[in-house]
Amino acid sequence: MNHLISIADSPTLIGIEQPATLRAPEIEKGVGCDFDSYLLVPDNSLDERIAAARARLGKDVVILGHHYQRDEVIKFADFRGDSLKLSYQAAEAQGRYIVFCGVHFMAESADILRRDHQIVVLPDLNAGCSMADMADIGQVDACWAELASVLDTSKIIPVTYMNSTAAIKSFTGEHGGAVCTSSNAAAVMRWAFERGEKILFLPDEHLGRNTGYRMNIPLDEMIVWDPYQELGGNTPEALRKARVILWKGYCSVHQRFTPEHVARVRRDFPGINVIVHPECRFEVTQAAGQIGSTEGIIKAVTTAAPGSKWAVGTEIHLVNRLAKQHPDRTVMSLDKSVCVCTTMFRITPHHLLWALDNLAAGNVVNRISVDERTRHYARVALDRMLSLR
Ligand code: 13P
Ligand code: SF4
Repeated sequence: MNHLISIADSPTLIGIEQPATLRAPEIEKGVGCDFDSYLLVPDNSLDERIAAARARLGKDVVILGHHYQRDEVIKFADFRGDSLKLSYQAAEAQGRYIVFCGVHFMAESADILRRDHQIVVLPDLNAGCSMADMADIGQVDACWAELASVLDTSKIIPVTYMNSTAAIKSFTGEHGGAVCTSSNAAAVMRWAFERGEKILFLPDEHLGRNTGYRMNIPLDEMIVWDPYQELGGNTPEALRKARVILWKGYCSVHQRFTPEHVARVRRDFPGINVIVHPECRFEVTQAAGQIGSTEGIIKAVTTAAPGSKWAVGTEIHLVNRLAKQHPDRTVMSLDKSVCVCTTMFRITPHHLLWALDNLAAGNVVNRISVDERTRHYARVALDRMLSLR
């Protein structure tokens, strides 16, 4: 039995009827027109047109899709994965154009890892990430200067989650640190502790704490840095004692899950397995018992016994897909109200078609381009992570 949750279509793009009189010639040609014209492309012709644009581009294009993308988009991905898998794909992709169906920080990372002749395109520039936006480079520079007034910063290693801007990755690389993803956070933190005494973990408080706790770091040695308070809201003594300094940032999707959700599914579905993403709050991960990165969750459900029951605390498109793919298991969201990443959801088949049509016509749209200096140190931080494979 599956418990699929339907997702209301984005108010912006889906299902708009196209009056025949508005059919502009540019839309017929499919190139050179602004995105708004593509809102008039009827839903029932999208698949065919996307396939045709891809055929025109041939090996020149590779489409990457994060697991949280909607079905209508991810079905066109040449490679799908979590942030870690997709960064390897971006580094190894052969196509001239890398079209990234994900969010802005992922496309930036692809631009940092790409080869010289490649171009990275994000089909909708509004596909950002609220967590990445919570660590502004000015705030992080100020934090580092404040830390230097209390501690020897040469002994602090920054570790930044992939879900951060290129500027934060660059800061991390320049200060001897590395990027991590939810799949390899423990390995990267171990790497950092071999090089320094403390870690500044950016920008997800929860991933940092959950990973540190699993590495046997006591909770009182992991403190939160609030960028809006002096010394991040800490005393100099607390900073000296801390082993991990957690930036006060979070994912608006995963932070919605609560321990009450865990208690409710256990009550309503005795024997159910509860697995949650490490971006969830500490209390939720403790109540759930099983923690899995995006790939970890997929593996747990995919390899589970037929008949087993799963409540999953992560983005709803992935949960629904797992439920559809495994009808012999009960797979449901941990929260009955829909936990959708609204920024990932911004990428629609219309955006994908618009980007591909333009590329096929030699017109690069929505290019993601990281400046050279930022790119240099961000690449250092990403390469340190990739070398831990
Ligand atoms: P992962 O792909 O590393 O699991 O990250 C989840 C996420 O929030 C992506 O934005
Ligand atoms: Fe950002 Fe959370 Fe969406 Fe991932 S799921 S892109 S962390 S808001």
